[in-house]
Amino acid sequence: MYRTHTCGELRIQNVKETVTLSGWVQKARDLGGMTFVDLRDRYGITQFVFDMETNPELCAQARKLGREFVVAITGTIHERQSKNSKIPTGDIEIIAEKIEVLSKSIIPPFTIEDNTDGGDELRMKYRYLDLRRNCVRENLVLRHKMGIEIRNFLDQLNFIETETPVLIKSTPEGARDFIVPSRMNPGEFYALPQSPQVFKQLLMISGFDRYYQIVKCFRDEDLRADRQPEFTQIDCEMAFVEQDDILNTFESLTKHLFKKLKNVELNFDFPRLDYADAMTYYGNDKPDTRFDMKFVDLSVIAKGNDFKVFDEAEYIGAICATGCASYTRKQLDQLTDFVKKPQIGAKGLVYVKYNEDGSFKSSVDKFYSAEHLQKWAEACQAKPGDLLLILVGDRNTTLPQLSELRLEMGSQLGLRDNKKFSPLWVVDFPLLEWDEDNKRFHAMHHPFTSPKKEDLHLLETEPGAVRANAYDLVINGVEIGGGSIRIHDTELQAQMFKHLGFTDEEAQEQFGFLMNAFKYGAPPHGGIAFGFDRLASLFAGIESIRDVIAFPKNNSGRDVMIDSPSTIAESQLEELNLALKAIEKK
Ligand code: AMO
Repeated sequence: MYRTHTCGELRIQNVKETVTLSGWVQKARDLGGMTFVDLRDRYGITQFVFDMETNPELCAQARKLGREFVVAITGTIHERQSKNSKIPTGDIEIIAEKIEVLSKSIIPPFTIEDNTDGGDELRMKYRYLDLRRNCVRENLVLRHKMGIEIRNFLDQLNFIETETPVLIKSTPEGARDFIVPSRMNPGEFYALPQSPQVFKQLLMISGFDRYYQIVKCFRDEDLRADRQPEFTQIDCEMAFVEQDDILNTFESLTKHLFKKLKNVELNFDFPRLDYADAMTYYGNDKPDTRFDMKFVDLSVIAKGNDFKVFDEAEYIGAICATGCASYTRKQLDQLTDFVKKPQIGAKGLVYVKYNEDGSFKSSVDKFYSAEHLQKWAEACQAKPGDLLLILVGDRNTTLPQLSELRLEMGSQLGLRDNKKFSPLWVVDFPLLEWDEDNKRFHAMHHPFTSPKKEDLHLLETEPGAVRANAYDLVINGVEIGGGSIRIHDTELQAQMFKHLGFTDEEAQEQFGFLMNAFKYGAPPHGGIAFGFDRLASLFAGIESIRDVIAFPKNNSGRDVMIDSPSTIAESQLEELNLALKAIEKK
């Protein structure tokens, strides 16, 4: 028998029992007459003692054990003289009587401890060792529990989990597709789904009524801390519903998960914020509302004083950083450098210190008197001791820049506590988004999203002003999920494709199946998808979704452990009709 117990379960009441444990050697310490071995498995750590005096042969064997050897040890449980309150098994130790080495280990490239000495790349290369560390494994256990809670919750509400295919035709979600060549259909390709969007809509037409799937999605896009090329969605669709039904259902799911996984009660209705207001007050469609610091538009009151930069600007936006009037020259320079970083791209930063004594000091003192600055301070509801930070320029460029500055100030002031949760719904997104490069409109969400009835008349004349029945769930500045009420009418869908620049033939070729399906009785329907990895990382209190994925890719989309992507043999390419030779032959 390999084990009678795990390494995490023996306690003082087990004293005198003879047990066998199996696991990995965390460390072996040789203290002359005694050798101590800490044995680890996923449940915990137990200390074994080998006594030179009573069992020299066994002790000599123990001394040869290296880190990460896999062993089975039998012995008798004793109460420890010096107890270790840091681990649950710390009151006992096991006097070893027999040891069997099940597998040896070479020296691991980094220590298997919470505070490991391994860097990111090294840990990714040896991910299977990284996964032995408690902190990493715990994230995956949390992920597993999340999956169970989600399935139970949705099952109770009559949702049916349905698998949809992975080898499909391109789904229009805005990112690039990953493409798979078809051997049996030379020159043709499948695409991996960016989401099961069209399939879940077809399931509604099939009468499934309530669908969900915890499903892998694939998007070939630039990667960041919250983006992986393959990621998991909690994908849902409901028939005979309006926007409120969906928001209420998934708000309840969110509250349920917070309660079950974090023991956090979110006893309030999640606020709903228009997209337009989100942009006006936070410069961002996923505002971090753990702190206030809303934008104040000074465009009207700050112009007309011969300060060209302000006079010529379309937008003058300010934020008020509470208690920061004491910022030093150096701190202000650092903030200026921050907004001038190429990723942010502001030309400069204007500051106004509202000193404790009521006086003002600003970087635009040459142009503005204290009375002027007082007016700005009033508009920003600033108090003595506060600091105004101002950015100017085109509205559409300045809003996101001010948003970055707001987030930076939130971080500097410790207002972005990862134990605090601030959820909200952002609603009424624009239906279409102008693509300056290609001089055409794109669907902001996807082409199946329905326009708001009251905006329909603008579709021909002012398409950019049409709002959609689309919504996002945002928590702590992270877009956790997004969805919409769909178009269920063939004609409106055809009109949408036209606005998106599809000819009738193109629309028919790409989405003929869906438009056809609409002709057979499509119920009104809508849905949402949550980013499973993003939700898991929020619950785990970590920034990067990599840490909640067992085998993630790095920021260049590589799996450095299995060394993928990789080249393939010429013969394989030929078989797929992709080899140069094969192409030339044709
Ligand atoms: P959307 O494109 O908004 O909607 O995606 C839904 C959610 O999926 C997560 N997500 C990602 N997570 C990790 N890495 C990525 N690369 C990534 N991309 C997206 C986000 C996002 O909110 N079919 C629609 C849903 C619908 O309309 O029902 C869709 O996929 O958390």
